[in-house]
Amino acid sequence: MSLLELEGVDAYYGASQALFGLDLAVEQNEVVALLGRNGAGKTTTLRTITGTVGRREGHIEYDGEDISGLSVEAISNRGVKLVPEDRRIFPTLTVRENLLIARDACKGTDPRPIEEMYEVFPKLEELNQSLGQNLSGGEQQMLSVARALIQSPDLLLLDEPTEGLAPVIVEDLSEVLHEVVSQDVTVIITEQNVEFALELSERAYIIQKGSNAWEGSIEELRANEGLLDQYLSVGGGEEGTEGEAAGDD
Ligand SMILES: Nc1ncnc2c1ncn2[C@@H]1O[C@H](COP(=O)(O)OP(=O)(O)OP(=O)(O)O)[C@@H](O)[C@H]1O
Ligand SMILES: [Mg+2]
Repeated sequence: MSLLELEGVDAYYGASQALFGLDLAVEQNEVVALLGRNGAGKTTTLRTITGTVGRREGHIEYDGEDISGLSVEAISNRGVKLVPEDRRIFPTLTVRENLLIARDACKGTDPRPIEEMYEVFPKLEELNQSLGQNLSGGEQQMLSVARALIQSPDLLLLDEPTEGLAPVIVEDLSEVLHEVVSQDVTVIITEQNVEFALELSERAYIIQKGSNAWEGSIEELRANEGLLDQYLSVGGGEEGTEGEAAGDD
């Protein structure tokens, strides 16, 4: 049985439909990439799982339970944690305080000690007393991941973790995330930086206009360069990063 199973899922923002009969299955301890162009529905898929999308319909099963009618909080309490695109660090609190708040807000799962987070993210220990607002983009991203991780998620959802980060920071993040996924956690990661996601993942889904376009193993995807051209408009090359400077939105 899959840990997470979406079947024929529709999602709506008001009257506007964003997902159309989406299917997705993730096994325990799997790392799955969710790929697709801007506006394809990647974030919406994650929000559909966490329950934060306006309206969702269809079959959503997590750990053998129908979660399609559950509240955001109830789903979170079952161990599903999202690292959102915009990171949402508390700017006027220190790194340590940001982590403690996440730890203390944890319900349904046993939080991990803050020291364990510092082992995974040594940089955060150095920055212990720094305010959220003074962190670089990469440091904020690390904190955002650590804040989800301290709640010992069973399913970790990473929404474009590399967005707006300089290539050298992306390398650091990649190292840390490799360690994270080697631990006992199931991960869905969305990325525009396809190479980053492929290196981390075992399987991928490509979404186009809110529907399934392709799914398969990373090997199959790599063997079929046409797929990336067709659905993501990137070649097989290394230069995955576009030249968008500041990365704020
Ligand atoms: N809050 C919202 N209200 C209305 N429409 C929305 C909202 N959020 C997203 N949409 C629409 O839903 C569709 C899917 O958007 P979504 O954010 O899921 O795409 P995405 O694949 O995550 O894109 P990106 O790569 O740019 O993050 C788009 O057409 C988008 O305009
Ligand atoms: Mg998105």
